Amino acid sequence: MANMVLIGAQWGDEGKGKIVDLLTAHADLVVRFQGGNNAGHTLIIEGEKFIFHLIPSGILHEGKQCVIGSGVVVDPEVLLREFEQLRAKGYERSLEQLVISDEAHLILPTHCRIDQARESGLGCRKIGTTGRGIGPAYEDKMGRCGLRFIDLLADAAALKEKVYAIVDRHNRVLARLYDQETVDPGAVLAGIERAAGVLRPLIRKTPYLLREAADAGKNILFEGAQGTLLDIDHGTFPFVTSSSTVAANACAASGFALGLIDQVLGVVKAYTTRVGEGPFPTELRDDTGDFLRDRGGEYGSTTGRPRRCGWLDLVGLRYAVLVNGLDAFAVTKLDVLSGLETIEVCEAYEYQGRRLDYFPSSVEMLAGCRPILKRLPGWQEDLSGILSFDELPANARRYVNFMEERLGIPAHVVSVGPGREQTIIRNNLFTGNGRRAAIDNS
Ligand code: GDP
Ligand code: IMO
Ligand code: MG
Repeated sequence: MANMVLIGAQWGDEGKGKIVDLLTAHADLVVRFQGGNNAGHTLIIEGEKFIFHLIPSGILHEGKQCVIGSGVVVDPEVLLREFEQLRAKGYERSLEQLVISDEAHLILPTHCRIDQARESGLGCRKIGTTGRGIGPAYEDKMGRCGLRFIDLLADAAALKEKVYAIVDRHNRVLARLYDQETVDPGAVLAGIERAAGVLRPLIRKTPYLLREAADAGKNILFEGAQGTLLDIDHGTFPFVTSSSTVAANACAASGFALGLIDQVLGVVKAYTTRVGEGPFPTELRDDTGDFLRDRGGEYGSTTGRPRRCGWLDLVGLRYAVLVNGLDAFAVTKLDVLSGLETIEVCEAYEYQGRRLDYFPSSVEMLAGCRPILKRLPGWQEDLSGILSFDELPANARRYVNFMEERLGIPAHVVSVGPGREQTIIRNNLFTGNGRRAAIDNS
């Protein structure tokens, strides 16, 4: 039995959705633990594309339970729309696989309005958020005045009172701070009621459910959203998201015991991308950057924005290995690098004439860092049909081995295309050979 946390090790969009889908074959439950519909996790199954913003990426596996954990912020209308899209694609019973924590907070339309108004007010200092209301919803949570799924189970009068109080407060912010039109609280309540009619039966006290599943020997896969460098504490603040995206939060935010986690897997794109604002030392604003964007289809799964592209950054990745305690990683999009004569990798930064081996906390400092790049030989072959590590071109194997050596952890998975089958699994990840097995054997 094994429980695994999977997180993004860069600035998001590493290919987490694809890897989660793949690993779900060995899991019994898949749990989203933070973030909201700022996430966009893409799966390509037999040529058909699915993008999940809120629904855990295990949903396409019949019978697997998908859990929206306590730390997620949920826009209920978006959630229902996702299920409608799934139904239209023939997945009629997927709603039955879902459970939502009664502790999870709701994103209201006014959270989205505040997010967007604030961003336009910031002008060139904007964060480049997804505009999905994530920051304002987490602010209400931390301010202890948000609306939770448990509130949907209260009587109608109590729910109305709560919703009207929140919308009234939001309206004052919208009107006074941002000079925006206010929102009708009755319409907000009607939207919540509509969604609640469908979602109420799915609401549970999920920490009990997760523990019972673990005690029954089931495998639980925790699906991170965003990435380590977007973490509220450890990322490039303030150009970050409003939740804790690191592995330890899978436990904190889901109410799951730390000691029951067997493996922490980081998903690492073979190069780096970033959406939104903020420093990005290895960014390529040239033909190579365009090459990566075109070849990698680097356009946001949530907003459609072009992603900024650059070389692999080992400084950021070593920090991700450290703060998440990664046991291993999955490298994705190796196929995208085919055709490059040389591939460069950032080994350290140079800041004001000095070498820097750590990831600085100041964005001003990070913006002043120049990457110290090592050149590695590329390869020309198409990798998208390769099924085993040994069949990869020698330089592609060397690239992965170089990553392993510099990060000090093994690449258990190598992904060579967006499809489920375009994956080289080098180690059975759910055999429980991670940290708990090591403790048990000691
Ligand atoms: P996530 O947010 O981490 O789940 O990643 P996204 O879905 O936002 O972005 C990853 C994109 O890369 C998606 O379009 C995937 O279909 C695609 N993808 C994932 N793995 C691979 C791969 O190994 N090769 C290629 N070419 N595309 C991949
Ligand atoms: P997945 O799970 C990439 C970025 C936004 C912005 C910053 C803050 O698909 O990897 P927010 O709306 O969260 O307040 O925006 O975070 N961002 C992501 N970038 N992938 C994501 O999710 C992201 N979710 C948020 O672009 O820079
Ligand atoms: Mg994404």
